[in-house]
Amino acid sequence: MSDYPPIRKAVFPVAGLGTRFLPATKSIPKEMLPIVDKPLIQYAVEEAVEAGVDTIIFVTNEKKRAILEHFDLDEDLESHLLEQGKPELHQRITDIIPAGVSWHYVIQEQALGLGHAVWCARDLVGEEPFAVLLADDLIRSPKDGCLKQMVDEYLATGAGSMAVEKVPAAMTDRYGIVSVKKDATGRDYIQAIVEKPAPDVAPSNLGVVGRYILPGEIFALLESVRAGAGGEIQLTDAIAAQLKSRPLLAHAFEGVRHDCGSRQGFIQATVDYALEHEELRQELLAYIETVKGR
Ligand code: G1P
Repeated sequence: MSDYPPIRKAVFPVAGLGTRFLPATKSIPKEMLPIVDKPLIQYAVEEAVEAGVDTIIFVTNEKKRAILEHFDLDEDLESHLLEQGKPELHQRITDIIPAGVSWHYVIQEQALGLGHAVWCARDLVGEEPFAVLLADDLIRSPKDGCLKQMVDEYLATGAGSMAVEKVPAAMTDRYGIVSVKKDATGRDYIQAIVEKPAPDVAPSNLGVVGRYILPGEIFALLESVRAGAGGEIQLTDAIAAQLKSRPLLAHAFEGVRHDCGSRQGFIQATVDYALEHEELRQELLAYIETVKGR
């Protein structure tokens, strides 16, 4: 048993425009783009549920109905699949949200940044510690999912955290960058965090990837931070303020992260997940052989 309250709620900011994937994302939210046969957002929701989350909160905008439709019941489709004698396909639909897990949404009226998106979920989250997952960071882990690894560490220490990995030194301006200090137990505590610093001023090359466990106090801090990098309300700036009163951990997760917010990352994720898929693997490998050197 842990001394700390469980992480039951997870916030999924999904209001972004996904311009890097236009024209595909003109009518389809980028989080609905599939890797093999599942939309990105579903991988993230599954990772949260595996970590013990039972309350899913989407922060979305009026135009991105497709995400809500994906998680909504579709009784017609369900009965159609059963009548057609396709129980496996029926199961794939009913598994989208497992029993005991509820989902909710809140509309972010204006695109004011990630910090603002998280802040929009304040009434649904309340005061307890909660998770934030950015679905375009897709993480395939060998055993426990990334968020489960972080929740286990939180339950042991009571400290919130964010997932980090080394990024190329020239790319620090694409990430929140942290500097860390190890404590006696070997855990990395965050000393400083900066949003998208240029390589010459970055405190390290440890980049934040889209998984966070945050205390409920972060909402009050989000309220007071001003627009930062890119003119947006940055989650990173509220986290920097939070560090003054509460230690937070940098979690170097086990697993491979694909940046599915970029086309290259998205394609690599597709290949990676297809190679893990027993029905697809052999044929894909054979195909890759034929295109090598093209
Ligand atoms: C956001 C965060 C950034 C983090 C990144 C991870 O940036 O602001 O700190 O490193 O997600 O994917 P975005 O990619 O939304 O610009």
